[in-house]
Amino acid sequence: MRPSDLLSVAETYGAPVYVYDSAKITSQFERLTRAFSSVPSLKLNYAVKALSNLSVLRLMNSLGSGLDTVSIQEVKLGLMAGFKPEDIIFTPNGVSLEEIEEAAALGVKINIDNLSFLEQFGSAHPDIPVCIRINPHVMAGGNNNISVGHIDSKFGISIHQIPHILRIVELTKMKVNGIHMHTGSDILDIDVFLYASEILFDTAKHFKGLDFIDFGSGFKVPYKEGDIETNIEELGQKLSTRFNEFCKSYGRELTLAFEPGKFLVSEAGYFLAKVNVVKQTTSTVFAGVDSGFNHLIRPMFYGSSHEIINISNPEGKERFYSVVGYICETDTFGNNRRIPEISEGDILCFKNAGAYCFTMASNYNSRYRPAEVLWHEGKAILIRKREDFDDLIRNQIDVDDLFKAPSRKPAVK
Ligand SMILES: Cc1ncc(COP(=O)(O)O)c(C=O)c1O
Repeated sequence: MRPSDLLSVAETYGAPVYVYDSAKITSQFERLTRAFSSVPSLKLNYAVKALSNLSVLRLMNSLGSGLDTVSIQEVKLGLMAGFKPEDIIFTPNGVSLEEIEEAAALGVKINIDNLSFLEQFGSAHPDIPVCIRINPHVMAGGNNNISVGHIDSKFGISIHQIPHILRIVELTKMKVNGIHMHTGSDILDIDVFLYASEILFDTAKHFKGLDFIDFGSGFKVPYKEGDIETNIEELGQKLSTRFNEFCKSYGRELTLAFEPGKFLVSEAGYFLAKVNVVKQTTSTVFAGVDSGFNHLIRPMFYGSSHEIINISNPEGKERFYSVVGYICETDTFGNNRRIPEISEGDILCFKNAGAYCFTMASNYNSRYRPAEVLWHEGKAILIRKREDFDDLIRNQIDVDDLFKAPSRKPAVK
């Protein structure tokens, strides 16, 4: 999207606002599909947690995507957006058995990641096939919060517990239709991915009735020009070859599944916020925006570095700014960034704001969550209204008859 398009969205819908470019989502979906075109059966299950707006889910459905979900609510959103149950996989961690059973009753694919539930679910529902999430014990991912396949991680069933899994399967007579792993987000080195895939192939050999192998996700996207990214084309070529070989030795064609979040939506998203104040201190020039980590928590949560541009003055002379939010705690979007000269009232644009941005937004400091706009075929379409005061108090129960304000005596002079 051009800065002028983004500015026109801010003028029409106000700021702060999230904007998603449908053309970028589509081209990323097509790029990933192309990279694995030599695999006869490929299934991309978009990870809903990255960005769960219904209109974005409808776009994914129109592209032929499936969905990866982690809560019963995400399953329901997917169904509401028109996905067929069989195109949704439920991959929760730490949820109750009742929630898994509720998802199974809706007909979606089930992915189980602990031995206790595998045994209980298999005993109660031996006819409902399940996928098993393996922990390959591989350290991968951009930082500790998003590395989830290592030995100390709470995710998946250890590869060292395969004999135990096999005993449960044999005793319960349950069916295993898939094997899954997800080692983390922001994986730079495709060799790490390929190494973990070999572990998955070794595991898959133990299960005779598989329909698919799910390699999770974790593709690293660039955050600025020249940034490192996962070489999808190279990964596609190498993993497809190995996958096709594996299927031959396995004896039948399986589906290769992925569940990308960031890869599909990160670069398609822009977050626009208005500059409230430019404040010069002895050492720093702060640009304080009409937003904070309540709207975009990733920089404060795990140090993500979102590129920030000034779309009100894109050609201006660059100066150094620290861009901060209005929350009364450290609330820094970026330190000492070179940005075209900023004036109060300018609109700043935070890039890579499609994944894990709106979905992590909160009402902290009793602020409204922003609007969301889809940029589609040259038009801005509002896909979520900005919240208002009614939204803030919607579920509160005001016990106004419980507490009385003391009657105040007039002050004596
Ligand atoms: C099980 C699972 N699959 C897929 C994803 C999506 O990962 P990414 O956004 O890096 O593609 C995640 C992210 O946390 C995940 O936990």
